[in-house]
Amino acid sequence: MTDESLGKGWYKDAIIYEVHVKSFQDSNSDGWGDFIGLTGKLDYLQKLGVTALWLLPFTDSPLKDDGYDIRDYYKVHPPYGSMEDFQGFLEEAHKRGLRVITELVMNHTSNTHPWFLSASSSRSSPFRDYYVWSDTPDRYKGTRIIFSDTEKSNWTWEPKTRQYYWHRFFHHQPDLNFDNPKVQEEMLNVVKFWFSLGVDGLRCDAVPYLYEREGTNCENLPETHAFIKRLRADIDREFPDRMLLAEANQWPHDVLPYFGNDDEFHMAYHFPLMPRLFIAIAQGDRKPITDILQQTPPIPEGCQWAIFLRNHDELTLEMVSDQERDYLWSTYAEDPRMRLNLGIRRRLAPLMGNDRRKIDLMHSLLLTLPGTPILYYGDEIGMGDNIHLGDRNGVRTPMQWSFDRNGGFSNADPSDLYAPPIQNPVYGYQVVNVETQIRYPTSPLNVLRQMIEVRQSTPVFGRGTMTVLHPKNRHVFACLRELGNDVVLVINNLSDRTESVLLDLSRFRGYRPVELFSQTLFPVLERAHFHFTVSPYGYFWLALRPPDAPVRSRKKIVR
Ligand code: NOJ
Repeated sequence: MTDESLGKGWYKDAIIYEVHVKSFQDSNSDGWGDFIGLTGKLDYLQKLGVTALWLLPFTDSPLKDDGYDIRDYYKVHPPYGSMEDFQGFLEEAHKRGLRVITELVMNHTSNTHPWFLSASSSRSSPFRDYYVWSDTPDRYKGTRIIFSDTEKSNWTWEPKTRQYYWHRFFHHQPDLNFDNPKVQEEMLNVVKFWFSLGVDGLRCDAVPYLYEREGTNCENLPETHAFIKRLRADIDREFPDRMLLAEANQWPHDVLPYFGNDDEFHMAYHFPLMPRLFIAIAQGDRKPITDILQQTPPIPEGCQWAIFLRNHDELTLEMVSDQERDYLWSTYAEDPRMRLNLGIRRRLAPLMGNDRRKIDLMHSLLLTLPGTPILYYGDEIGMGDNIHLGDRNGVRTPMQWSFDRNGGFSNADPSDLYAPPIQNPVYGYQVVNVETQIRYPTSPLNVLRQMIEVRQSTPVFGRGTMTVLHPKNRHVFACLRELGNDVVLVINNLSDRTESVLLDLSRFRGYRPVELFSQTLFPVLERAHFHFTVSPYGYFWLALRPPDAPVRSRKKIVR
């Protein structure tokens, strides 16, 4: 695909779908999803309306961190298929206009990577300096421990060569030493390899932690930015239409430098927004959302936020105050098994108590706030989770396609599956599955599909400005999205009661609101203030059409 076909900055107009090859569809009945299976489901994804797929790690790995522990950067993990299978998948995705984003895990490898096997076998190994070693575990004391439930230190003793090695995540994931120019070259080669194959974007894991410096917290160091600028310059030269997405779980002002001067990452996740959406809907109050939006600085022209509700990790509570964390824990994780590290290991539907109104409202927020939305596989049908599975595996269970054996995910013997599908009476595959939801128009799947269709009917959501409105009624979060002459007024009722709200729309006197799902014409805005009534957890997306605008006929989307 070229920029001509999708427009420059394709990632700004994208709807990204995060998917695990392992979890989507098993084509050879071995109990593990694979590339051939995923390829067979591309039509489903195209119909859903997503425009890009983000694949979780799929290169060879002992899977002690579900593939984020890489053993070989250049080989597909055998149960997922071969390199040919991957290329076949990529080609089929591109044929359907779907971009493909894969993972770049630069910060660390598995301790079974040949580099580490060699480095840890002798101090004179040519790979010794690929990793970070120390005689004492007392260096870099100011560094926090991320996987605090499992790791007690960022240093682990290596008995054979009698030194400690550094790791920001699990002890079996030694950090690479970016002070070593050879490591930098290795990573630049990995990037070139995947971009040469035709991958459209890379989601760059754990970027704040590439370097270590004494007397700092070893995050967001200037050396990291220098390396990213070099990486970006290489890409701009050789692969100009590709995208780099930063995983930097930081406050907005600390993420800002990762965009650089339009010369580092094209995109970065907005981590702090996510938990605040969950606070806002629980409290029926817009303040958590408006506060964080206010603290979000403008970003360079070519850049874009990536926003999300849930993903493959725990709902991370690092970017909230202690008070907010306690609130979220007591509201959303009453059972201690729902908690992991500084977060909550649950999916969207259970977090919302399976309340359809709340799930739809969360999607309304996701699809109308500034940035590119990322959906997590299974959330489109309201899949549940399994808190009995270890680590974050409870939110990574097989996709539920039908009420057939193994939820239609695999024909394998159920005991051979990589993980059991969800089987409980509320979220089990017998009730929550794609086949059922395709059949009725108001299913979670079909409503989300319609929302995506409406969102994609105008570039205003991906590229427009946002003006937050401040009506007296704090239960309502309302904003204007604008791009050129296109104006959309979005109204979300965060409370469980019908709310009435008076909005100052003086700028749009004489305009006529058109409800975007039904194409219903609202009365012309004749006064400066306009009164709306919104049902519990209800939402409106209203195009504001100027008085002289030609009547546009657009397909009516029935809800
Ligand atoms: C962030 C990933 O999202 C997470 O799943 C992983 O465990 C860590 N980085 C370490 O790679």
